Amino acid sequence: MKVIVTGGAGFIGSALTLRLHQGGADVVVVDKMTYAANPESLGPLVGGPRFKLIRQDICDAGAMVKLFAGIRPNYVYHLAAESHVDRSITGSQAFLETNIMGTYSLLEAARGYWGGLPRVMKDTFRFLHVSTDEVYGSLGPAGLFTEETRYDPSSPYSSSKAASDHLAMAWRRTYGLPIIVSNCSNNYGPRQFPEKLIPLVILNALEMKPLPVYGDGSNIRDWLYVEDHVRAIQQICETGRLGETYNVGGRNEHTNLQVVQKVCDLLDELLPVDRPRRDLITFVTDRPGHDQRYAIDASKLENELGWRAQESFETGLRKTVEWYLANSDWWEPLRQKVYAG
Ligand SMILES: NC(=O)c1ccc[n+]([C@@H]2O[C@H](COP(=O)([O-])OP(=O)(O)OC[C@H]3O[C@@H](n4cnc5c(N)ncnc54)[C@H](O)[C@@H]3O)[C@@H](O)[C@H]2O)c1
Repeated sequence: MKVIVTGGAGFIGSALTLRLHQGGADVVVVDKMTYAANPESLGPLVGGPRFKLIRQDICDAGAMVKLFAGIRPNYVYHLAAESHVDRSITGSQAFLETNIMGTYSLLEAARGYWGGLPRVMKDTFRFLHVSTDEVYGSLGPAGLFTEETRYDPSSPYSSSKAASDHLAMAWRRTYGLPIIVSNCSNNYGPRQFPEKLIPLVILNALEMKPLPVYGDGSNIRDWLYVEDHVRAIQQICETGRLGETYNVGGRNEHTNLQVVQKVCDLLDELLPVDRPRRDLITFVTDRPGHDQRYAIDASKLENELGWRAQESFETGLRKTVEWYLANSDWWEPLRQKVYAG
């Protein structure tokens, strides 16, 4: 089994790569190695058998064609993206280029490769496009996103992901390419770049720096531990129905303020200091276009494919905080050289 993981040096891509490799697959990671990539996340695999890291921009159409011809993958897991909403507000171009045009060049390369495959390989080839629940826009106090929810994205990030989802589905309908799309809620866990809420709060709180919370902290997200997500991704790619969308979520809704408070309390327990870390919470001007609530109905994935989230937010968050405490060699260089929080 040969698989390509685009964005495999990022947060979710590296967790997926480690999992697929451990399961016996030959994994080729294709990654532009932007600020969000960290080869250390793939540390145990680098230089070893059944693994290759190719530094490449997915927007380079010619390189993508050569990549498919050289690797001849059975499956493609497409995760490469610009992923940080705040950055998309101050600089949207890279989001449009990578998330839309990059997905386009990958789809075209996959189509050319797939079209030339012998029957037996053609019938089993799969392309999983990994996306976000943010494409659905914002929920009110009640209700859940289902696979039928109308797309209504609010940010440059989510609109670029929405566009890429439409491209993926169109390549299925128009050309028959064996595509599946997954839309997942907010992930957290080890090896997440420390600009995202949970690692940012952990590391700022460790240094007793202010903990910025947008608006009044009442925005709700549905949190999923990254290992639960990558199990879902693998299961959807291997056994999901072609041309379908699967929502992925853990039924773990919390306000941003609750999340930050929980991180503070865990750190106070694991590494006590002379004052509660909750005192560091600072409310800052809300983000423009900030969606109020996301919540996923994952029953299609649960009922059709038997997937279940294994971590509660409490168990997953504890594992995450413990991981950051034990792995300062992973995040210290990032805090010093790439993003100081
Ligand atoms: N993090 C979440 O909560 C979440 C939730 C749902 C879906 N997703 C989706 O999952 C995927 C992975 O998210 P993540 O949080 O791991 O992101 P990440 O930012 O940690 O990693 C993205 C990776 O893509 C690479 N990349 C960026 N532009 C590229 C390009 N032009 N060519 C090749 N590689 C490029 C980066 O170098 C990086 O390694 C994304 O598609 C994202 O939209 C993320």
